[in-house]
Amino acid sequence: MVEIVALNETGIARGAAVLRDGGLVAFPTETVYGLGADATNDRAVARIFEAKQRPQFNPLIAHVSTPEEAWDHVQRTPAGRALAAAFWPGPLTLVLPRRSDCRLSLLSSAGLETAAIRSPSHAGARALLAAVGRPVAAPSANRSGQLSPTTAAHVARSLGDRVDLILDGGPCPVGVESTVVDASISPPALLRPGGVTAEAIEAVLGGPLATAVPGEGLKSPGMLDSHYAPVLPLRMNATAAEPGEALLGFAGTRDATMDLSPGGDLVEAAANLFAMLHALDDSRYRAIAVARIPDSRIGRAINDRLRRAAAERPAQTAV
Ligand code: TXA
Ligand code: MG
Repeated sequence: MVEIVALNETGIARGAAVLRDGGLVAFPTETVYGLGADATNDRAVARIFEAKQRPQFNPLIAHVSTPEEAWDHVQRTPAGRALAAAFWPGPLTLVLPRRSDCRLSLLSSAGLETAAIRSPSHAGARALLAAVGRPVAAPSANRSGQLSPTTAAHVARSLGDRVDLILDGGPCPVGVESTVVDASISPPALLRPGGVTAEAIEAVLGGPLATAVPGEGLKSPGMLDSHYAPVLPLRMNATAAEPGEALLGFAGTRDATMDLSPGGDLVEAAANLFAMLHALDDSRYRAIAVARIPDSRIGRAINDRLRRAAAERPAQTAV
């Protein structure tokens, strides 16, 4: 059975050590319990997706111990600065452009050029984040498709020993997830309602938020529903490279340009996916061929991402 320890000084020291070691720690925030991993470690972040058994890679929120720390990772837009000043620490998540020197895992932002970040107000969460000394990626600590957990017992029931440690800080005071605002665009857009109301946000902005239309993405141009896809055409289930193709291998594919996991470990493959796609998305090649990835466990999320990237280019009809 998974170990549940109190969120006190000892628990925080243990939790921080597990996180720095690449492990998974569930911890309370003012909104819901998060399933945390070192946000600068692709491998640790891959374990989050594996534990949640999500068939897709959704970009995650990076949690920082103080509002100021956010600016080490993302760019300050005027709206981002104003909303952070008004609502941080607290239940607001801001989507902002990654800095060029951003150390957040590419997998945690699903390969996008933006990252979601928040500074929670929960005292125990802040103490844990300060002890880790690194940003912590954390989606809600539930298995995909289940309810967001607001107690340590909910987490244990949903994730069991898929998590290394649960820090019990009692029930979460807000009980619903943070509000997510995309402040990388102007006007900013409400991506998810939550702990901070749209009215309060609009009062700070001095104008209306753009709203996302389900299934259509944002009405405002230039953003969202956008998933990272390489510029080059992508071909799945390749056994060998055709002329001009880069070959992204798995489990020792012969003549691979790069190999997602020479040892055939799907968690390692997920950790390397976005970084390797970025590296091969280069005009030296005409296309990226990807070896067959087993469609089990986190391999389903890898194949989901590859399928979207392959389909986003209707002109590409190669076998
Ligand atoms: O209250 C919360 O926000 C909790 C606690 C643990 O902090 N976390 C949480 O995380 O609800 P999660 O992963 O369940 O939700 C993250 C939301 C998703 O809707 C995701 O699509 C969005 O944030 N998101 C993250 N990065 C994004 C990005 N770069 N662009 C657009 N949306 C993003
Ligand atoms: Mg969730």
